[in-house]
Amino acid sequence: MIDDACDRIASRLLKERLQPELVRSAGLPSLVAERCAKHRLESPIHYAELVERDEAELGWLRSQIAVPETWLFRYPASFEYIRRWVGDRSRDWSVDRPLQILSVACANGAEAFSAVVASSSALGIGRAVDGCTSVRAVGIDPNAAAVDAARRGTLGRMALRGEMPAWAADGDAVTVADGVPTVHERIRAQASFLVGAAPESLAAMPAESIDLVFCRNLAIYLDADARQQIGQQLLRILRPQGILFLGHAERPALFGCERSIHGAPGADPAAFAFVHASARLPRVKDEERPENSRISSPQRRDSRRESQRRSPQPTSLAEARRAADEGRLDESRSAALALHAGGSREPSLLHLLGTLALAAGDETEAEQWLRQVVYAVPNHDEALLTMAVLAERRGDLEAGRRLRQRAGRGGGGTP
Ligand SMILES: C[S@@+](CC[C@H](N)C(=O)[O-])C[C@H]1O[C@@H](n2cnc3c(N)ncnc32)[C@H](O)[C@@H]1O
Repeated sequence: MIDDACDRIASRLLKERLQPELVRSAGLPSLVAERCAKHRLESPIHYAELVERDEAELGWLRSQIAVPETWLFRYPASFEYIRRWVGDRSRDWSVDRPLQILSVACANGAEAFSAVVASSSALGIGRAVDGCTSVRAVGIDPNAAAVDAARRGTLGRMALRGEMPAWAADGDAVTVADGVPTVHERIRAQASFLVGAAPESLAAMPAESIDLVFCRNLAIYLDADARQQIGQQLLRILRPQGILFLGHAERPALFGCERSIHGAPGADPAAFAFVHASARLPRVKDEERPENSRISSPQRRDSRRESQRRSPQPTSLAEARRAADEGRLDESRSAALALHAGGSREPSLLHLLGTLALAAGDETEAEQWLRQVVYAVPNHDEALLTMAVLAERRGDLEAGRRLRQRAGRGGGGTP
């Protein structure tokens, strides 16, 4: 009975383009039992029927697999890069031709809000509250509850992890009281949110219409077909000179884009920023970086240390990361392994090795590296969250929950 119910539920979830390994996890029966008890259903088959007819219940199940987890200024280097990139082109945007931002898999909107705050700060739209500005962001996510939270601007305590960049406080764009951040009305008015899923909802968007596209921490949950289709859509909607931001574990190859994009010139590798391979962009100079950036998360400090150590040597950690960001994964892995063999045990090297193993599809090896990262930096959020996904993929939902809780308690260790 439970097997039949799980089969029906898995078939429904697979239609959502989720990874079969995640959907068919050994933890599904216990989730079904938990929900039967909650809804007072006598049989798992009744629960399967509920999932088939009720979008909200389907959404709840989906959220157990593709968790709507995000926070403000995640990957700080990406928002620093946006500030410089937007600032360099400040004359390009106007009310008639706004800077267009898209956050695919936006969850509670933190990514879209962060991008609006960074862009507005670069354009000097600080204090004027006119509701009519030259920055527009759209977020999409199939999770209706998360989209609702985004529309209400309800971010919650966990939306701020680590220190906020100094410029985020300009014009009270983001204020923090008792550890809970609030996004200014003006910023919220520049972002709108839609319930929708990629790739389908991307197909409806005009070609070459978006300047800054975020598609972070989504591919890891989706099946190969969906990832390839999303990759094609991202390339189609991104403007020729636009920037695509991916997640730390999402190399272009995961979307089938490895030949069509390369690392954005002048971007910190920890920004995970990419441009069309055909784009000719002026390099953003290091000396143009804003002085008032005040990010101090451990990985940001790592990346600063890396920049300081950057040398012509092709085997530095920074070079290995750059090679990974440009899709030269084998080169990156050889360089990273050579550094490891040479005695380096820097957490960011171990994290890179884990990420490369993940990109190569070797989850066992990835976990081994990530475990070492967490041993060295117990509150390394990114490593903990990736380990949570891997544990859940193996069907170990309990371990996944524990790791997520631990990441939630962290308050540090994120890039
Ligand atoms: C871990 S969150 C990523 C949040 C944010 N992009 C970030 O990196 O911080 C994953 C999100 O993907 C969403 N999602 C799942 N399937 C999706 C799909 N087919 N299209 C768009 N979003 C999807 C989930 O609802 C969830 O909110």
